[in-house]
Amino acid sequence: MSEHVQPEHVQSEHGQPDHRESEHRESEHRESEHRESDRGPSERAESDRAPGLVARGLTVRYGGVVANDDIDLRVRPGSVVGLIGPNGAGKTTLVDAVTGFTPAEGEITLNGQSLTGMPPHKRKAGGLARTWQSAELFGNLTVEENLLVSARKVGFASLVRDVFGRAGAGRSADRALETVGLTDARGSLARDLTLGQQKLVGVARALAGRCDLLLLDEPAAGLDSNESREFGARVREIAKSGPGVLLIDHDMSLVLNVCDVVYVMEFGKVIFTGTPAEARVDASVAAAYLGSPMEEADA
Ligand SMILES: Nc1ncnc2c1ncn2[C@@H]1O[C@H](COP(=O)(O)OP(=O)(O)O)[C@@H](O)[C@H]1O
Ligand SMILES: [Mg+2]
Repeated sequence: MSEHVQPEHVQSEHGQPDHRESEHRESEHRESEHRESDRGPSERAESDRAPGLVARGLTVRYGGVVANDDIDLRVRPGSVVGLIGPNGAGKTTLVDAVTGFTPAEGEITLNGQSLTGMPPHKRKAGGLARTWQSAELFGNLTVEENLLVSARKVGFASLVRDVFGRAGAGRSADRALETVGLTDARGSLARDLTLGQQKLVGVARALAGRCDLLLLDEPAAGLDSNESREFGARVREIAKSGPGVLLIDHDMSLVLNVCDVVYVMEFGKVIFTGTPAEARVDASVAAAYLGSPMEEADA
């Protein structure tokens, strides 16, 4: 279907060796990820110490609906993992389960630390940051003010970390804006920005503070294809700066061009895990997307 299409980053004349390396790293590990649930206890203990996010057996029930059914998910630091699937597949529920906004069975570790059972604010302090589907900015505040209104009160521990620059110290609002390429817009009113820039302010807001894993729930909704491409490039920059990124989006071209690994969900289950190249030719992915924008990814 799309053999002639190379991921955007491979075509880039500037070359992004980091990305290719991380893709390579990802594919080395993919086999074991596929079989996470078949592993024995000692191998499981091993992966508990693994860097990045490891979620195992996540199950969320809403009444009779099993919105997440025994999901295993892995996001390595510095990588971008895509999560796609039809409406109602359970993507937002998975973000809610990982971040603690909905009760879930299963286990979650981040860089070897268990987050299982913790309330959302503790998971945030532990390094999980998210954006919300359709989150809005304060239009009459500046970009910088939009970041500051959501900033947490700085506690003594994070102050010490910041002063001594220890690993895991939070990213300042300035650095978050720099990472998304909006340093020059910091004094602009949010309502004067393009939609693409506004989306990036939302991302910077999540990125400020401690962030080891960034979960983006349809962050590019409403962007045209050019804006979406630029947004994708920024998402790669974010991953390059350290954190893993979980990217949910309906824009297949964005997801397939930007991600190292793609998970496809349908009816609460993961039906496919693999590289974008594998996703493009997988029959079960095509079936899940029959009549929806799979073709756009070839454009
Ligand atoms: N808070 C909730 N209460 C009851 N059912 C919910 C709730 N949130 C989601 N659901 C149901 O769970 C399923 C998955 O929804 P969701 O995670 O929002 O899917 P997606 O983000 O992939 O579109 C859907 O059937 C939806 O109706
Ligand atoms: Mg959703």
